[in-house]
Amino acid sequence: MKRAVYPGSFDPVTKGHLDIIERAAAIVDELIVGVLNNNEKTPLFSVEERVNMLKDVTVHIPNVRIEAFSGLSVEFVRKCNASFLVRGLRAVTDFEYELQMAQTNRSIDRNVDTLFFTTELKYAYISSTIVKEVACYGGDISGFVPAPVAERVYDKISLKTRGNRSEV
Ligand code: PNS
Repeated sequence: MKRAVYPGSFDPVTKGHLDIIERAAAIVDELIVGVLNNNEKTPLFSVEERVNMLKDVTVHIPNVRIEAFSGLSVEFVRKCNASFLVRGLRAVTDFEYELQMAQTNRSIDRNVDTLFFTTELKYAYISSTIVKEVACYGGDISGFVPAPVAERVYDKISLKTRGNRSEV
C-alpha cells in the first residue's frame, strides 16, 4: 500500500493545492492531506474550517483523506503509516525552503522521502496569502480558489471586518 501525506496550512486551500492533490492521489493508493494546527501562526480559518473546506473540494477523489495534525510532519507521516511527503513547487523561490525542509525531514526519518510536484503554470503565482490579500480589498478570487472556498473567504473576511468595526 503506497501511502503519502501532503502537509500544509491550507489557509485556505487554493486551486494550486487542489491540482497537486489530484495529481498526487493519481500515483499513490492513499493520499492523506494533513492540515497543520499551528499555534504560532494566526490563521484566517480554524483548523476545523480548513479541514471541512478540503473535504468539500476533494469529495470527487475517493483515495484522499483529510486530517488535522500538530507537531512534526514526519511524525504525522509515521502515524499514518505512510512513506512519502508530497509538496508543490511553484517557482525557484520555493526551492530553497522546500529543499531544506525535505532534507531536514529525511534526516529525522530516513524512511520518509519527499515527492515534489511542479505546480501547473496557470496556478504558479497563487498562494493562500495572495488569496486573502485580494479578497480583503474586495477583489475577485474566483480564479484562485474553488467556488465554495471563495464564498467562505469573503464571508470570513466580512465577519472579521464587521467585528473590528464594532470593536472601535
Ligand atoms: O502550507 P505551508 O504553510 O507552506 O506548509 C508548511 C508545513 C506545514 C509543511 C511545514 O511548516 C511543516 O511541516 N510544519 C510542521 C513542523 C515540522 O515538521 N517542521 C519541520 C520541517 S523543517
